[in-house]
Amino acid sequence: MTKENNLEWHENDRPFSPQFNDHFFSHNDGRLECDHVFLKGNNVQKRWLEATRFSIGELGFGTGLNLLETWRQWCELRQPGQQLHFTSFELYPMSADQIQRAIGPWPMLEEYCKILVKHWPNALKGELIKLDDQTSFQLSVGDAREQLPSWQHKADAWFLDGFSPSKNPEMWEEGLMNALAKKTNINGTLATYTVAVWVRRNLKAAGFEVEKSPGHAGKNQMIRGRLQSGD
Ligand SMILES: C[S@@+](CC[C@H](N)C(=O)[O-])C[C@H]1O[C@@H](n2cnc3c(N)ncnc32)[C@H](O)[C@@H]1O
Repeated sequence: MTKENNLEWHENDRPFSPQFNDHFFSHNDGRLECDHVFLKGNNVQKRWLEATRFSIGELGFGTGLNLLETWRQWCELRQPGQQLHFTSFELYPMSADQIQRAIGPWPMLEEYCKILVKHWPNALKGELIKLDDQTSFQLSVGDAREQLPSWQHKADAWFLDGFSPSKNPEMWEEGLMNALAKKTNINGTLATYTVAVWVRRNLKAAGFEVEKSPGHAGKNQMIRGRLQSGD
């Protein structure tokens, strides 16, 4: 079920969720934040050099900024024959217009965003979307706590991008982190912008080795994790 999604727009067309009382990404260039925290945090650019197929999972699709920046970099770095699949879990999907407005500040993502928006009605139905010959995308609409356990795949890298743990604790809770570990390939990794103590505790209890590293734009710290006990 698609639920209501009322947003506010703050400086530079940055979306804000009154429901969660939080922004969707950093005021300090969300695209660069994506590169630092999620892409470099999972070391994906280097791992792509070796991978025939690579699967990324994301908790919290939001504006699609992480998908679009990942896809843009993938197009620059990939070799013929390689495949990237990106799956994202989202309870309150935005409208196509909201996505376009949120991505507007990044002209380098405009063409990618147009393709995503063209496919958006089918994406909302959960269909597998072929973004191009080497890139596919699937949106899982619903509460990640219900959707993830029945997901039929595993990811090589996870982007944990719920709202702040204090405002959106459901996206970081123990049961969801346990499900995450079961849906991670051996030696799979995760990255997130938060270092909340209880989030790290839940990730460790689920079987991830976690370490802190410097955050985006000198901001606080972030977490990088690796699965220790895949099944
Ligand atoms: C920080 S935003 C994600 C930003 C996003 N990755 C981007 O690139 O714009 C967090 C997202 O998590 C979603 N969310 C919150 N609780 C959820 C839940 N229980 N299941 C799935 N998604 C949830 C929110 O609707 C919101 O879109």
